[in-house]
Amino acid sequence: MNLVAMDAPMMRAYRLGFTRTRLDNEVLGNFDMYLFRKNPVWGLIDPDGTVRSVAVLAVGTRKKNAWGPYANWYAAHTLPAHRYQGRATRLNRMLLDDARAKGCVRVKSLIQSYAGVRLHWRLGHDFWGVTEKGYIQVDSPLDRSSAWPSTTPEQARSVTDRVQPLTPTELAAVLVAGGFATGPQELSFLDGKPGTGLLVHSL
Ligand SMILES: CC(C)(COP(=O)(O)OP(=O)(O)OC[C@H]1O[C@@H](n2cnc3c(N)ncnc32)[C@H](O)[C@@H]1OP(=O)(O)O)[C@@H](O)C(=O)NCCC(=O)NCCS
Repeated sequence: MNLVAMDAPMMRAYRLGFTRTRLDNEVLGNFDMYLFRKNPVWGLIDPDGTVRSVAVLAVGTRKKNAWGPYANWYAAHTLPAHRYQGRATRLNRMLLDDARAKGCVRVKSLIQSYAGVRLHWRLGHDFWGVTEKGYIQVDSPLDRSSAWPSTTPEQARSVTDRVQPLTPTELAAVLVAGGFATGPQELSFLDGKPGTGLLVHSL
């Protein structure tokens, strides 16, 4: 398996050698907290042995009424020079598949950036609305073939009482209102047409 459990020295090495934006600092700053709290931090090992994409995903075991157990996806980051090549998709698909194999039936996550929206969209996740702190709430089945109660999913209740996730049109409005996207060019991915994505090639 080309995954590695990251520790503090490995995260320090990961952060070296590139110019960080405010978003990089925010996202990577939280990784220290995740390591301190002993949340599982994972790195994807490239064929040359280097980690260029990291994520934090905890496998929950508790069933919350009809809706759990949840995989709790806390964060994702790929080194800027190595984005758009499928690393985060690959890493997080592996982590989500593993969570599913361990009994999780849904994933919950908070999105804080346009890039994060694109990653979750690519993974086919459901979006529900914006939290008080301005994050987009994801609450999504790991297996689309399962039947679900017609109530609001457990984590989605933080932002809505609706029973269906946002439609692409509703999501577009939320992305603009929330400052995640500015105009049609950044929203064309919601058309879902093949080839409209930015990804240049898959690893
Ligand atoms: C989000 C992030 C982890 C994606 O990493 P990645 O390895 O480039 O992801 P992938 O190559 O698997 O691409 C997944 C999708 O995200 C899109 N994407 C990746 N980086 C992007 C960026 N910076 N801006 C816009 N879209 C981006 C890709 O085009 C692809 O979508 P597509 O298939 O519709 O084209 C990376 O951009 C990053 O670290 N961003 C800064 C931190 C951040 O925003 N983390 C998420 C917080 S919720």
